[in-house]
Amino acid sequence: MASDTTIADVRARQILDSRGRPTVEADVYLASGAWGRASVPSGASTGAHEAVELRDGDPDHYAGLGVRRAVGNVQQVLAKAVRGLDAANQRALDGRLLEADGTPNKSRLGANALLAVSLAACRAAAAGRDLPLYRHIADLAGVPRATLPLPMVNIISGGLHAGQQIDLQDFLVVPLRARSFSEALADAAAVHRTVGELVKKAGEPQLVADEGGWGPRLASNEAALEWLVAALEIAGLRPGVDAAIAVDVAATHFFDPQRQGYELHSEGRALSSHEMADLLATWVERYPIVSLEDGLAEDDWQGWRELTARLGGRVQLLGDDLFTTNPQRLQRGLREGTANAILVKANQIGTLSETLAVVSQAQTAGYRTVISARSGETEDSFLADLAVGCAGGQIKVGSVTRSSRLAKWNQLLRLEEELGSAAYLGAAALGR
Ligand code: PGA
Ligand code: ZN
Repeated sequence: MASDTTIADVRARQILDSRGRPTVEADVYLASGAWGRASVPSGASTGAHEAVELRDGDPDHYAGLGVRRAVGNVQQVLAKAVRGLDAANQRALDGRLLEADGTPNKSRLGANALLAVSLAACRAAAAGRDLPLYRHIADLAGVPRATLPLPMVNIISGGLHAGQQIDLQDFLVVPLRARSFSEALADAAAVHRTVGELVKKAGEPQLVADEGGWGPRLASNEAALEWLVAALEIAGLRPGVDAAIAVDVAATHFFDPQRQGYELHSEGRALSSHEMADLLATWVERYPIVSLEDGLAEDDWQGWRELTARLGGRVQLLGDDLFTTNPQRLQRGLREGTANAILVKANQIGTLSETLAVVSQAQTAGYRTVISARSGETEDSFLADLAVGCAGGQIKVGSVTRSSRLAKWNQLLRLEEELGSAAYLGAAALGR
């Protein structure tokens, strides 16, 4: 018997994320007594076109990073706005959240306030319907068959996630040979372990970056690729066959708009957009790279077009800061032929319904989707169910250490138990 999924109450609080910074957590209670909880992640290398993450700016409280205003907005404004609505009708609920905020970029109440309620309501509705979260999400997304995503696992970090030892942000492994999600995770963990040994052998401290990967001092950006290939070989994985490499260049963060150049500070050189594309093309020649994220800056549309014309047929070109999970920006990308895949981060846009709509918009147009965590995360595992429920294809969560990351990987292991390894997409998610 269906229970009453009417929203009876909403609560919210300030909790801390994996970087020790405040974030918003909300609880949504239904008339039936069922309830759901969710918390919101936070980026470090955020794009200019993201929805607004509301912070207090009070220097005496968490150095201005408090989210007490966003929490207050949930308690005082959003709770009233959604009370009495059906949590199972996510679209109507999210519509009400957007109406309550009333701005295009969620700057009045904060995307962090909106998303906490949106996700918690989804979890509450799943509980109310007595369904696993991924199943409820599949219903919302109109997905007939939930699938287990191909993981991209962070191994080496630089940029804003690792004290800018090198300029590029993330070097990840993509397990290709695995026939199940659990095998894929095991292969990724072997590479992570092996790079750890290489760091030690190089006489370097085993420093850990924000997403749980290694943050070693390296001679150059390219050295990270050399290390990764070496680690694949030592781990017995044939580079490009058994496992491959993905790079999140995160180029927005070393692009200087004044000088219109990409400043590789760690190497003391600056590149034009064209030269940056040359460098990436050289790497694609030299290394088993299957995915390049934010190879150019968020508003370098001209450069992106050239990059796509040049490399789009060979590798996945993934837009993170470029698209910011925003339907208008994705639309422009589709029209102009920029990138061929989109990174999906719910907090870049602010509600679950808008997130699911962007996934569907991308997939309908033939762009691949990668469901992604942020560098600041909590123990919430929502993302795992989201990736499975919306048949996202690929998922990027960070490394295989730190509980904020494992919350998601471990949930995927549980979902594999439920769905069976046949539901695992594997390398097919990359069109292989
Ligand atoms: P962020 O990094 O969460 O710091 O933005 C993740 C990414 O760039 O993909
Ligand atoms: Zn990114």
